[in-house]
Amino acid sequence: MHKLIDKPDQSCLLIALSVVLASLVSFSDAEVHYHEFVIQAQPVKRLCRTHKIITVNGQFPGPILEVRDGDSLVIKTTNIAQYNVTLHWHGVRQLANPWADGPEYVTQCPIQPGGTYTYRFNIQKQEGTLWWHAHSKWLRATVYGALIIYPKVGLPYPFLTPNQEIPILLGEWWDRDPMDVLRQALFTGAAPNVSDAYTINGQPGDFYRCSNQETAVFSVESGETVLLRFVNAALNQELFFAVANHKLTVVGVDAAYTKPFTTSVIMIAPGQTTDVLLTADQSPSRYYMAASAYHSSQNAAFDNTTTTAILEYKSESCSARRQSSQVLVPQLPASNDTATATAFTAGLRSPSKISIPNNIDENLFFTVGLGLINCSLPSPNCQGPNGTRFTASMNNVSFVLPTALSVMQAYYQGVSGIFSADFPPVPPIQFDYTGNIVLQDTSILSTEDHPIHLHGYQFSVVGMGFGNFDAARDMPKFNLVDPPVRNTIGTPPGGWVAIRFVANNPGVWLMHCHIDSHLVWGLAMCFLVENGEGEQQTVIPPPPDLPKC
Ligand code: C2O
Repeated sequence: MHKLIDKPDQSCLLIALSVVLASLVSFSDAEVHYHEFVIQAQPVKRLCRTHKIITVNGQFPGPILEVRDGDSLVIKTTNIAQYNVTLHWHGVRQLANPWADGPEYVTQCPIQPGGTYTYRFNIQKQEGTLWWHAHSKWLRATVYGALIIYPKVGLPYPFLTPNQEIPILLGEWWDRDPMDVLRQALFTGAAPNVSDAYTINGQPGDFYRCSNQETAVFSVESGETVLLRFVNAALNQELFFAVANHKLTVVGVDAAYTKPFTTSVIMIAPGQTTDVLLTADQSPSRYYMAASAYHSSQNAAFDNTTTTAILEYKSESCSARRQSSQVLVPQLPASNDTATATAFTAGLRSPSKISIPNNIDENLFFTVGLGLINCSLPSPNCQGPNGTRFTASMNNVSFVLPTALSVMQAYYQGVSGIFSADFPPVPPIQFDYTGNIVLQDTSILSTEDHPIHLHGYQFSVVGMGFGNFDAARDMPKFNLVDPPVRNTIGTPPGGWVAIRFVANNPGVWLMHCHIDSHLVWGLAMCFLVENGEGEQQTVIPPPPDLPKC
């Protein structure tokens, strides 16, 4: 854990005043959305076989939550599955409200089988696409759904209103119980088995066995513009996505708008969202949308299959459809095409100049990467490369979750022995560093893109590059004008990324690699942001139904 002080805002009076005015204006429109989420097992057939998967309300993917900026959500969550579970509202800032954030043993104890917990939170100044997912073990393999945030009533998008909107959730499917895959990996110390399919809205699509009857089909009218809201809910894999013959114009990522940016392929890392406009301006026909792996790590196994859905022009008549077995397939980049992945990520900008903190109080330099633990004797627990066990770390520390109490509760109640507040601000073996938070990928095992997600915040991505971060060379090139605002950013393989944020949200906030196999190996840490003096800078009291460990 690394401690940050919540700085009192010098212009807090002014800000408090405008908050009051804004809430007066919008008060009558804000809604409270009540939902009941029952975590339950559900038989689901994919790839010719039926598995009992864990779901919300028996749905896979889970229910789509649709709200407006300023709305509140109340989600009564009842767990009738056989596993402990928590839910996380990925990207929601949860101002002064860590109790609703959800990562197990970080902000709450899990909801045990038979238990209930009601998540209560507000959406404040965010628009676009976010998502929710289980944040316990590997349950998020099947427990996830979209969280769509529309502008307040009467406010437009900063782009032409699309004719229709389609959420597209990319996922990963194992032809086994994913919890068994995890259990096996943690026992053997080896890398977990790779998935057997990728999915689009829960369906693998035409290129997999026993799947073409259920392929997702999206119908569009010729000429209309569609807003595609992508979520990469895959457990362990960055993905490329393209639509045959169609260009994609990115207008937002991670519930923040971007300068429109047109591309033929997008790359999306686990945890990230991307909002894209697509215009149906091609000859009426059927076109494949497809996603396949962007895999930056050398010589590690990965799932190299391709998931598809179909973009179908309505004017394409039924009879023509039946006859034309021809569906155009898009060209996807090679799985190791780091140049394309990097060009895409580096092309994202905020729509205009944003305000970025300029006085840096804390300069942090975090190395992120995988490693191996040596075993002195051959053991069934040491089936990693050359009889080792896989591990992962930030600044050479592997994060281990407590079990007796969550970190947030331990901090709030002053219980010692649950966490230590000595996370190093720099790696034990020093690299050249200065300023900001630099996330530096290491090449101890292999260089790799690690999508790093910070809970409770959005940050500005002010710079990224390959090789070791070199302050003298790299800092002058930082984009302090219109950097993209995100909640999840990948370290370029063998490179670094620099982010900035103001520590204005008190609580305990997990920062971790959103590749779940790396997370369970310890690629995580927490920020402890202490209370400040401004509006919403004191953690609210925990709700009475907060689960017990
Ligand atoms: Cu989307 Cu800590 O996770």
